[in-house]
Amino acid sequence: MKDIQTYITQNKDRFLNELVELLKIPSISADSAYKTDVLKTAEAVKLRLEQAGCDFVEINETPGNPIVYGEKTIDKNLPTVLVYGHYDVQPPDPINLWDSPPFEPVIKTTDKHPDGAIFARGACDDKGQMYMHVKAMEFMTNTNQLPCNVKFMIEGEEEVGSVNLGDFVKNNHDKLKNDVILISDTGMIANDVPSITTGLRGLSYVEVEVTGPNRDLHSGLYGGAVANPINVLTKMIAQLHDENNHITIPGFYDRVEELSKEERAEMAKAPFNLENYKKALDIDAVYGEAGYTTNERNSIRPTLDVNGIWGGYTGEGAKTVIASKAYAKISMRLVPNQDWKEITNLFQTHFEAIAPEGVKVKVNPHHGGQGYVTPIDSIGYQAASNAYRDAFGKTPIPQRSGGSIPIVSLFEQELKSKTILMGFGLDSDAIHSPNEHFGIWNYLKGIETIPLFYKYFTELSK
Ligand code: BES
Ligand code: MN
Ligand code: MN
Repeated sequence: MKDIQTYITQNKDRFLNELVELLKIPSISADSAYKTDVLKTAEAVKLRLEQAGCDFVEINETPGNPIVYGEKTIDKNLPTVLVYGHYDVQPPDPINLWDSPPFEPVIKTTDKHPDGAIFARGACDDKGQMYMHVKAMEFMTNTNQLPCNVKFMIEGEEEVGSVNLGDFVKNNHDKLKNDVILISDTGMIANDVPSITTGLRGLSYVEVEVTGPNRDLHSGLYGGAVANPINVLTKMIAQLHDENNHITIPGFYDRVEELSKEERAEMAKAPFNLENYKKALDIDAVYGEAGYTTNERNSIRPTLDVNGIWGGYTGEGAKTVIASKAYAKISMRLVPNQDWKEITNLFQTHFEAIAPEGVKVKVNPHHGGQGYVTPIDSIGYQAASNAYRDAFGKTPIPQRSGGSIPIVSLFEQELKSKTILMGFGLDSDAIHSPNEHFGIWNYLKGIETIPLFYKYFTELSK
């Protein structure tokens, strides 16, 4: 596109400063103490969309956090791109593991980001990636090169399961009508190996509670004579995988889509270095389901993981106690055709069934969502592929991701359009972890690539 390089060079300091300002607001959706900051962030996004050239922007209240909606219509006969992103972020804890405060962005270089990366919670997931779209829009409107209509829908509850976005989408079919949905909230293989995400895993998230005696007990007086809820819970969790690391819940794999030999061979072509992978994580071996490679285990196979476990005494020193209760948070990543509600039910039935006598077990479902796979023969994928080819000088590799954006399958169901996942983060960017960061090169590359998507999508739609 005309002048994009010059535009980026001339404006890159401002692009960075504006993102830094956005990253300073702690829009943590999981913690209600940050409600004011969440609202402040929505206001900031609204202002930036107006400045970028939207001719209509509004903040839609929901029972939870507001959804910012903006649009620019240039011609009803031209296609419409709907951009989705989120302005909320994960909680930053454990805070003591951050090298600099999570909401005081700093720029530092890393091995993967020799041009510098911006360190802050939300830098990559998803404020930085969302804001690339705002700046791409600014470029297109300022230089009179916006080739089609645009709509923005930026929500504030993605990190807590998009609990209110579903209703908003269901109630606003006309407003949100579009020809393609564009999201930057995923990653790519490496800066010199561009890839487009073609799949997301589904999710079922549950909390379990095991109750033993009606009060905490002296572990000497009662130990050995009553079921210890923590012992029981860990034993039950251990039973959820067999010796091949298959999940043992009856029916769990019934609907799992098995890939053909050819599809698996195609996947195996993506560059991957096991030694570097282990080195980056400081582990001496990888682990997982027998019969699958690392890249398959974290994308086309379903999983079950404990995300948190607690109970009893965890303070300083020792306390001899048998706790009355033990808890765990468990996530199951799902693959195409598995239904998250059905899986949640299968989990619940099984977990209650394996509870031994002497304890009561409760399963509390949290949230979930379906997986998603996007075809690579669509106009949208072609447009994205062309855009990467021009910006990176290489044709991107299609790659399924292990992460989840549960609302994407609902978009397809309600709005009947395909989603294109143009992510510019790297796995090493530490999203959800301490020291999250986003490469400046990646940020600017995203701003460069996005307008090309608009151009090709409009051309290919003719
Ligand atoms: N942006 C991520 C999802 C993601 C990251 C997908 C990288 C692919 C590659 C998103 O914000 C996220 O964290 N999703 C959650 C699910 C949500 C219901 C909390 C996840 O995947 O754990
Ligand atoms: Mn995200
Ligand atoms: Mn996230």
